[in-house]
Amino acid sequence: MTENIFPDRDTFLERPAKEHLLKQHGLVVWFTGLSGAGKSTLAVTLERKLFAEGLLTQVLDGDKIRNGLNSNLGFTEEERVENIRRIAEVSKLFSDCGVVAISAFISPTNEIRSMARNIIGDKNFFEVYVSTPVSVCEERDPKGLYEKARAGIIKDFTGVSAPYEAPADANLIIDTTDCSVEEATGIIFERVLPLVKEGGWENEQ
Ligand code: ADX
Repeated sequence: MTENIFPDRDTFLERPAKEHLLKQHGLVVWFTGLSGAGKSTLAVTLERKLFAEGLLTQVLDGDKIRNGLNSNLGFTEEERVENIRRIAEVSKLFSDCGVVAISAFISPTNEIRSMARNIIGDKNFFEVYVSTPVSVCEERDPKGLYEKARAGIIKDFTGVSAPYEAPADANLIIDTTDCSVEEATGIIFERVLPLVKEGGWENEQ
């Protein structure tokens, strides 16, 4: 299907030129965890903190993408794979432009996450596992989805009737049970900032 497609034409501007323009490095910060674990909240607060530091960022999150780009996908295993494949490709487009993409998706299996890591490239992929346990997520239940899942109204709900595999190779693990949003954001920010900030540039020129 792709035999007549030539994605590597040498007329495209290279990533380093774009990173130089922005004076930052592209990266994908990939949040994984259960619904209600705090992924989207932390994605948004991390974006604000990085943006305040002068970095160009873009948040991609489940509810937004599933309303637009991936509105034709549901929650079977196959559809979740396709959901994450597209999101990983889009995240890569951002990081290839030198932007810090912050992607917050349940991405429930090791297979799905390693597909994302392979598409994006290991050194551009910073995985944050928001490990808040299901009991806490269910107690929060901000969208009332756990209640619906328990009642059988929503099928294949992650953590209730569909599996979530804890990642073995996350770059950072954050449990938001007893940790404020500010604290958690600060911990992630400290790890991400050195990977994306301008300082590295001067040494590379
Ligand atoms: S993923 O598994 O494919 O990575 P994604 O992060 O895009 O999931 O979407 C998760 C969001 O969709 C949840 O936060 C929740 O609001 C909603 N949702 C609706 N149905 C389900 C379901 N069966 N399982 C998980 N999340 C669901």
